Amino acid sequence: MVHADASNFAADITKEEAYQQVLDQAEGLFYEQRNWVCNLSNCASLLWHAFKSLPAPSNQVNWAGFYTLNHPSTTELILGPFQGKVACQTIAFSRGVCGAAAATKTTQLVPDVDAFPGHIACDGDSKSEIVVPIVVDDKVVAIIDVDCAELNGFDQVDKVWLEKLADLVARSCDWP
Ligand code: SME
Repeated sequence: MVHADASNFAADITKEEAYQQVLDQAEGLFYEQRNWVCNLSNCASLLWHAFKSLPAPSNQVNWAGFYTLNHPSTTELILGPFQGKVACQTIAFSRGVCGAAAATKTTQLVPDVDAFPGHIACDGDSKSEIVVPIVVDDKVVAIIDVDCAELNGFDQVDKVWLEKLADLVARSCDWP
């Protein structure tokens, strides 16, 4: 049964433990539920509360969510479920960190967004960013995007675990 406690993270856990809880809770929530809006919404909540439970820089995350492929386009993303302030509605594959992740199907770990050519500044507070593609049958169906209000907000631990989450989400939803 779905319970809001799934979004509660203990105060003293490591980042790895927080991500493990995100994955475990997500897998539970996805049981007999394959709707992508529903599943990405709960994932955004889990990620947000996980980051907020961790020490800096993770607790300085100011946006966590998803963009999905904007059908019938095959080269544009559209805003999906997220936590944080309102954000850009559509992003071409040729633009920004999200576009780069979608176009190359590879994770973009950006320690300083001002140093990333074409970064889209939805929110001037964002200083660093990680974007992970969600790929099904070799096609990008969505991306995970997390922004941090501190420089160097993300590291290889975030990359490894967000890629695991992307794998889980890819196979747990029916994509339009
Ligand atoms: N900064 C992103 C745009 C999306 S927002 O950060 C939510 C980019 O450059 O693709």
